[in-house]
Amino acid sequence: MLVSTTLFVFLAIFQPISCWGSFGHRTVAYLAQKHFTAGTHRFVDRLLENDQGFDISDASLWADGRVKRDNPRTRQWHWIDAKDKPPTHCEVNYQRDCEDNGTPECIISAITNMTRVLSKPSNEYRKEALMFLIHFLGDIHQPLHTENASRGGTQLDVRFDNRNEDLHGVWDSDILHKYRHLPSSIGQNKPKEREEARKWADELYQSKEDKNMQLCKKGPECYDIKKPQKCALLWASEANCRICTHVLKPKVKWLENNDLGGEYYEDAVPVVVDLVRKSGLRLGAWLNALAAIQPSEEDLVVQDPEVDGEL
Ligand SMILES: *[C@@H]1O[C@H](CO)[C@@H](O)[C@H](O)[C@H]1NC(C)=O
Ligand SMILES: *[C@@H]1O[C@H](CO)[C@@H](O)[C@H](O)[C@H]1NC(C)=O
Repeated sequence: MLVSTTLFVFLAIFQPISCWGSFGHRTVAYLAQKHFTAGTHRFVDRLLENDQGFDISDASLWADGRVKRDNPRTRQWHWIDAKDKPPTHCEVNYQRDCEDNGTPECIISAITNMTRVLSKPSNEYRKEALMFLIHFLGDIHQPLHTENASRGGTQLDVRFDNRNEDLHGVWDSDILHKYRHLPSSIGQNKPKEREEARKWADELYQSKEDKNMQLCKKGPECYDIKKPQKCALLWASEANCRICTHVLKPKVKWLENNDLGGEYYEDAVPVVVDLVRKSGLRLGAWLNALAAIQPSEEDLVVQDPEVDGEL
């Protein structure tokens, strides 16, 4: 009894609970990078201190790692629990769904806060804020990160290609892996996962928007970094709309009794492709806007000789 309890606690703590799965996050990060201006490349590289061993796709996974264990409060920053009525009514309501005892604690307020940190020229948490943003702009496009029902699908046991899964995992990883012909163990092979994510990001970058996917769009693209809450609410609402049109559309009973690797998967693919594409595009544009308001490098460099002169 004691042994199994200990083991359970161990597994509960150390099982990687990833969001969009690591493959999805890496793809979003590489795709965003392809949209960067030269200034954004410099801004991001300077903050991440990129080297061979740690690239932007690794940065996109940071928020799912140690920080979740060391700082449990950050866990709920990965989602917003829309208390709507899927599959008949889908809607994100910031006041209703974000607050936790009067404090905003959800992915929308997290994106808002991190954007504010990066809007200021100096703040000791800029690197962390950037890594959070790279991760959260991915998560906010995963429909089940915007839904309360079945705890974002984590409590809904399903089958996918004859394997046991929960619905959340199906949307985080299984659909993406199947679509890209990858084994579910891809996350354990970092060089291969990076290579595959780069390849998909290249293809998404070349591809055009699927016009059939406009149904859930809630307004024109929102890149105003002075209004992060408004933009993040639009993104969350678009993803949440997919809960009604696809994710929970067949109803819980059907989902529990059918293998989701068949027609359910086929219907889901264009939605996932569209959301990953938008994720990368929006993250790229968001960071471009943030990079554009940073003090220019000349301003930073000019100070050095003066300091040297005084020494
Ligand atoms: C965002 O910042 C506000 C104000 O400092 C704080 O109350 C809130 O807890 C923060 N929320 C998140 C998710 O970071
Ligand atoms: C949120 O989801 C949980 C778990 O499925 C459920 O027990 C609870 O009633 C839901 N809350 C609302 C307001 O829908």
